[in-house]
Amino acid sequence: MPPYAFFKEQFMPLAEAKVGILTQALHYGTAAFGGIRGNWDSEQERFCLFRIQSHYKRLLDSCRILKIKLPYSIDDMCQLTVELLEKSGYQENAYIRPLAYKSSETIGVRLHDLEDDFFIIITHLPPYLGTEGVRCCTSSWRRVDDTMIPARGKICGAYVNSALAKTDAHENGFDEAILLTHDGHVSEGTGENIFLVINGRLVTPPSSDNILMGITRDTVIKLAKNELGIDTIERSVDRSELYLAEECFFTGTATNVAQIVEIDHRPVGNGETGEITAKLQELFAQVALGRSPKYSDWYTLVSPARVEA
Ligand SMILES: Cc1ncc(COP(=O)(O)O)c(C=O)c1O
Repeated sequence: MPPYAFFKEQFMPLAEAKVGILTQALHYGTAAFGGIRGNWDSEQERFCLFRIQSHYKRLLDSCRILKIKLPYSIDDMCQLTVELLEKSGYQENAYIRPLAYKSSETIGVRLHDLEDDFFIIITHLPPYLGTEGVRCCTSSWRRVDDTMIPARGKICGAYVNSALAKTDAHENGFDEAILLTHDGHVSEGTGENIFLVINGRLVTPPSSDNILMGITRDTVIKLAKNELGIDTIERSVDRSELYLAEECFFTGTATNVAQIVEIDHRPVGNGETGEITAKLQELFAQVALGRSPKYSDWYTLVSPARVEA
């Protein structure tokens, strides 16, 4: 089955979905994207599109920031995604990438007086940071500030900031970078939110520390509270707290829940997966497969032949 895209208001083979080289978004990063997991449950033979409405709500919020107007509602985009997934013929974990962009083929940096367009593609994505534990550095690049490019939007141009930090970390022998805000507080990873375990409670940076408001972050906060009775404190975090935390982990759609085992050449805790992290990993893995009736509001279940919810 050839890979498919939804592009220019129709479904087509991915190989036929092309943009012109004058496309405004290509030059200036004036686009916003999403990343949604279609988790394949091989026992039930169905996908669980996890919290897809939340992902499209966030995409439309990013579009508001960028003055991108789309002719689709959240429900329309969910339905298009389901159809694309069914057409794709995939029977394994799928990663869905919707992208809204300034599509006029013209030179000139701005947001106004331009056409907008939207596409969705589906691809494979193994766990982004592996499963063995992540070795991190604190980046010398600072997280973009809300007054520069708002991090609460998933804005393409802002990912240059992530790319600079990621490659710097990689070339220095680390798996991932942790970015600080301009005033030195912990913000997030290049494509993940970060949590610390301090005195048995979860601590995570607040929205005002230039993070993307992660859907996995929100899920983990709710699972920790509901299933483990653990509260999360959203507050600014100092760099040195990373070195002293009992446990640390990243959350994200691409990453799931990934234990951080080392930061700036210091082991986190005893350098192994912590107890709370392990419990959250297990809980999240089950919930993200669509197996927990309690969280059915988060699921859009898609079997290759038909839509169930
Ligand atoms: C910069 C950044 N932070 C955090 C996240 C995690 O967000 P989510 O859990 O919604 O995937 C992502 C992933 O999209 C990201 O790119």
